[in-house]
Amino acid sequence: MPVYSISHVENVRICVVMVGLPARGKSLISQKIVRYLSWLSIKSKCFNVGNYRRGIAKDAVITADFFDPHNPEGLHFRKQAIDAAIVDMMRWFTEENGVVGILDATNSTRSRRNKILKICRENYIEPMFLESWCDDKELILHNIADVKTTSPDYVTRSSEFATKDFLKRIELYESIYETLDPAKDANLTFIKLVNVNSQIILNRIETYLESRIVYYVMNLHIKPRSIWLSRHGESQFNLTGQIGGDADLSERGWRYAKKLPELVLKSLGEEHKHTNLTVWTSTLKRTQQTASFLPYKKLQWKALDELDAGECDGMTYEEIEVAFPEDFKARDDNKYEYRYRGGESYRDIVIRLEPIIMELERQENILIITHQAVLRCLYAYFMNVPQEESPWMSIPLHTLIKLEPRAYSTLVSRIKADIPAVSTYKEKGTSQLGESKSGVSISKSRDLLNTNDVV
Ligand code: SIN
Repeated sequence: MPVYSISHVENVRICVVMVGLPARGKSLISQKIVRYLSWLSIKSKCFNVGNYRRGIAKDAVITADFFDPHNPEGLHFRKQAIDAAIVDMMRWFTEENGVVGILDATNSTRSRRNKILKICRENYIEPMFLESWCDDKELILHNIADVKTTSPDYVTRSSEFATKDFLKRIELYESIYETLDPAKDANLTFIKLVNVNSQIILNRIETYLESRIVYYVMNLHIKPRSIWLSRHGESQFNLTGQIGGDADLSERGWRYAKKLPELVLKSLGEEHKHTNLTVWTSTLKRTQQTASFLPYKKLQWKALDELDAGECDGMTYEEIEVAFPEDFKARDDNKYEYRYRGGESYRDIVIRLEPIIMELERQENILIITHQAVLRCLYAYFMNVPQEESPWMSIPLHTLIKLEPRAYSTLVSRIKADIPAVSTYKEKGTSQLGESKSGVSISKSRDLLNTNDVV
């Protein structure tokens, strides 16, 4: 039984109804909310009306005219698309126990929003409107550039055509657009973001889950930045196969620490070598020793400490298998939920990492030096790795991982220091450390960590 779940506390189901002209970042915000809530084990799904429209109006020529509010053919297909998305969403709420559904569409008129409101009320779903309002020309052009390169509507079109056509599509939507208004929409639950988060208007936010979504959205920014992740250098406990503890680095671990500044510079590249970044470590000696040669500001976080192995702290996996055979098996059977006697589970780590994720969303360039289990959970957030897989990801020692969040994905690269280290990876069903050569259960997420660049 999960120990913590917002939806269990409140038993509330929410439909986040996106509102905004095209190129206002609605899909980006929708996808981020889904990723964040899913990471917290809150069942969430995005229903993108553009995708439904593409499925329904297959043969129609999709240029700006299709979105003319006086074009009956366009209106017909667009109505079918939103209706189909809503039907699917309502089915998902009832049949799949969905908790937060996001209706990603322009929802530009009050009459459309009232219809959605009515359907939500009839189905006992709380509607929460989330408008992204923006008149910052630079930002809009930046978003148009994203749409041009990512939207299936423009795959066969030249870049010039796509820009001109998309601007015309926006104008057509503008002709009927009605923004959320604290006076006219006083009865609605809504968040209105003005130019990302320069100004935020909140109205009737009532439930805890709504307030979590609000807080998350308030912390988002769109400045380009990178996040680096590294485990501490090899420790004395790694050499003996013991888990937990607060051991010093091994001789090879110290070599990694000394090499880390060079790896960071290489990852920054010549052009950005003077970029300022902040280093976050746990409170344990091995992460601080690993950070000790880095010439950047450092911060320690208790929340970044390794998974607490409770009564098993300081033991090897072989010792645990002998002393607590049932626990050993229970952990292999459900590693995400298994909580060490007097210690923690992966789920517990995710809960304590939530403030870290929130702060990471607010910050720019951060290098995090932490521990295997914590790093798996952080990586799972950025890469959307499901919780059945994340505790089994292989994240080797002496490797610097760089994450570059982009509009719809996160780029990953890794630089491997040419310094040997023991493997601390334990596969299912064994107490032995090290990855088998058979390549069993190599997941997509693990593949991502297997591209090499040795320094
Ligand atoms: C679309 O068809 O691309 C979006 C429909 C809408 O939200 O107006």
